[in-house]
Amino acid sequence: MSRVAVVTGGIGGLGTAMCKALAEQGRQPVAVDYNGLKPEVVEKWKADRAAEGLNIPVYLADVTDFASCAETCKKIEAEVGPIEILVNNAGITRDAMFHKMSPEQWDQVIKTNLYSVFNMTKQVYEGMTARGWGRIVNISSVNGLKGQAGQTNYSATKAAIYGFNKALSQECIKKGVTVNSISPGYIGTDMVRAIREDVLQKIIGTIPAGRLGEPSEIARTVAFLVAEDAGFITGEDITVNGGIYFH
Ligand code: CAA
Repeated sequence: MSRVAVVTGGIGGLGTAMCKALAEQGRQPVAVDYNGLKPEVVEKWKADRAAEGLNIPVYLADVTDFASCAETCKKIEAEVGPIEILVNNAGITRDAMFHKMSPEQWDQVIKTNLYSVFNMTKQVYEGMTARGWGRIVNISSVNGLKGQAGQTNYSATKAAIYGFNKALSQECIKKGVTVNSISPGYIGTDMVRAIREDVLQKIIGTIPAGRLGEPSEIARTVAFLVAEDAGFITGEDITVNGGIYFH
């Protein structure tokens, strides 16, 4: 069914692959991304998708800000349709060993990775429960599961997602809404490529698969969790990490 599927961080590495997978599944993807992005970046992304035959609207918002999320979701619902699928994928890293981590690095990551989950889910939750169908997928990380030196801020937000999902899933499964997460390992995106080369090579050496993951490998898991017949899977997390860590 052509349900409207909002992906935050929608024009980034993982987000783009998710939008494509959702379109392939017959959904109407809508990319939400940062309102501080340069207009030419957004225009190029739209043109690239159009060249692939995909019409994916892009809306700009600040996911750390509740009012901005409210305004954006209202606009999407008026212009595209009711939001029936939400993928909270927007996330950033500000890596530093704890003794060097600044309050700003802590705040930016907590707000972008965790407040965003509340800010966006709040906008769509009532509609989903009232209509009796909804899919919420929160993108966590292997580093929320295992912790990562240099990422106290990021690991804290990604671990928090499991608690959020387990709590909310109990509130809404009877109303046809599922809440799940995916914990990607190290995937070949700009976020991972930003790791210092020597550190990154060491990390790749620890991945049993011997390589970084592909964004499409996360996107296909999103499509699985939001499928029409996935309504009995809730509060769950799926790791997609090339064997680096198991639940
Ligand atoms: N465990 C324990 N100690 C470690 C360590 C580890 N994994 N890595 C480094 N250290 C130690 C070092 O041995 C060093 O100790 P000494 O000072 O005693 O020699 C100390 O910590 C400082 O290490 P660095 O030289 O690396 O410190 P830095 O300040 O230059 O860099 C850093 C710190 C930016 C956090 C860098 O270590 C780094 O980038 N680490 C990788 C963090 C990481 O995995 N980020 C993932 C980003 S991608 C992502 O998050 C997506 C996803 O979901 C997977």
